[in-house]
Amino acid sequence: MENFVFRNPTKLIFGRGQIARIGQEIPTGARIMMTYGGGSIFKNGIYDQVKAAIKGFQVVEFGGIEANPEYETLLRGVQVAREQKIDYLLAVGGGSVIDGTKFIAAAIHYPGASLWDILVHQENNRGIETVPFGTVLTLPATGSEMNSGAVISRRELKEKIAFSLPNNYPQFSVLDPTACFSLPKRQLENGILDTFVHVMEQYLTYPVSGMIQDRFSEGILQTLIEIGPQILQRSTPDYDLMANFMLSATFGLNGLIAIGVPEDWATHIIGHELTALHGLDHGVTLAIIFPALIDEMRGEKREKMLQYGERVWGITTGSESERLDAVVKATRDFFESLGVKTHLSDYGIGEETIRTITDRFAQRGTRLGEHGTIQAEVIGRILRKAL
Ligand code: NZQ
Ligand code: ZN
Repeated sequence: MENFVFRNPTKLIFGRGQIARIGQEIPTGARIMMTYGGGSIFKNGIYDQVKAAIKGFQVVEFGGIEANPEYETLLRGVQVAREQKIDYLLAVGGGSVIDGTKFIAAAIHYPGASLWDILVHQENNRGIETVPFGTVLTLPATGSEMNSGAVISRRELKEKIAFSLPNNYPQFSVLDPTACFSLPKRQLENGILDTFVHVMEQYLTYPVSGMIQDRFSEGILQTLIEIGPQILQRSTPDYDLMANFMLSATFGLNGLIAIGVPEDWATHIIGHELTALHGLDHGVTLAIIFPALIDEMRGEKREKMLQYGERVWGITTGSESERLDAVVKATRDFFESLGVKTHLSDYGIGEETIRTITDRFAQRGTRLGEHGTIQAEVIGRILRKAL
């Protein structure tokens, strides 16, 4: 096992009715900016619950943070927060609202002239002062409710860039499964896929005797395989299924399963290009890239792929190469069984986009993957396997 330091300061507040506790978690006298997305919180009653919970505080609202939060929108949020002398942020929504709020938290006191530098000159971010924030999660997927990362899009430049800061964790996050009951099927699918692939980015690399971490990861994968289809099939949401889904997503990317093990993240970084260029949902990009990536990288990932196949899918017979084929197929079939197509051609994407993406990675000189071997040429092969 590799050396590690693990700290996660986010307080999780879990369960039915827990939104009512938010007022106790925010410092008395705080000037709050409540952030939200396109309006789902008005339809499902979450807005009213949150407003009731923070009655008595001075609250400014900033809505309209879109899926794949847009830099230009967030600049307006920063301006409002500065004008209103906001000293606490409260994000109510999915990963996009939480990520956008993390950007605003980092930007309010950012000393540089261009806030875009927070994303493109991350080497200067050390020590920047962030504004504290809490979250109310309405979509289990990203783990953003218990990590310090965020992904920001800038449509004008067709860019989608991740950043993280050690002091940008939510102070608290409320996980009330009933807040997710209004999720449409498409977002449930996205959330299951995102969680599954988060675990894979931290698990499916090479063995380092992280026995506990492997079992944690396999436990989350097995839970998703068990409950994912049930969640999607139900006509009325089930509290316990949603509760387990929420925990899977949060623990899939809160740092726990990454302790002492190598990480990959190539699927995510390549997938972000598909969102930036074609606007595909984040979860869909992962469903396209991941099966193709493990197929292409089966040499480097051989041992963990065989372990995953045996422990998660019960694949124990056949030659090694047949077992690796079966692992790729089981994974792709699972994604497709959720109702998500896994080929670029299913979305009308072809060779032109592949060339654009490989050119972009070649220009950046990117080396992805746990061994840093996934360069532009390999990315091209992965994308062609995904056609
Ligand atoms: O905007 P509203 O009206 O709220 O609607 C949203 C949005 O349209 C809707 N929604 C959310 N909760 C709902 C609901 N609709 C009905 N009922 C509810 N309870 O769902 C739509 C999608 O929301 P979004 O927040 O975009 O989804 P998600 O949570 O999947 O977040 C995706 C973003 O997170 C980034 C992705 O790249 C993408 O930009 N990621 C962030 C990560 C992180 N911070 O650690 C890691 C991830 O890998 C990911 O990259
Ligand atoms: Zn993700």
